[in-house]
Amino acid sequence: MREFAELYHTADWKTEKHVPVIECAGKVKVGELFQIKVTLGKEIAHPNTTEHHIRWISVYFQPEGEKFTYQVGHFEFTAHGESAEGPDKSSVYTNHEVSLSMKTGKSGVVYATALCNIHGLWQSSKEIDVS
Ligand SMILES: [Fe+2]
Repeated sequence: MREFAELYHTADWKTEKHVPVIECAGKVKVGELFQIKVTLGKEIAHPNTTEHHIRWISVYFQPEGEKFTYQVGHFEFTAHGESAEGPDKSSVYTNHEVSLSMKTGKSGVVYATALCNIHGLWQSSKEIDVS
């Protein structure tokens, strides 16, 4: 079998503008809703123009000891200044930031992935203790 390529890049979000920043509590209660916010470019802003922007963010959860990963949400950003007059001629730009809530019965890892239209796929993760 052919080896898989590294699909996702990762780095420290403080020095790399493409890395999703996951903000949520590190400890939550079993079965209680908790908030997750995912942004990009918290320290170094990522451009948001017709030519260069974030297309989507996806959020996943991997419960400890389980074989499969769950997709919690997928968020598309579809306005980047394009208009009938041409690129960057509208004043409408979706910002690459999402908020969601979820609940789970097990500890695990939240993963966030993002697609930049010219710099590819990026990911980050955060462990959550559920008790
Ligand atoms: Fe980019």
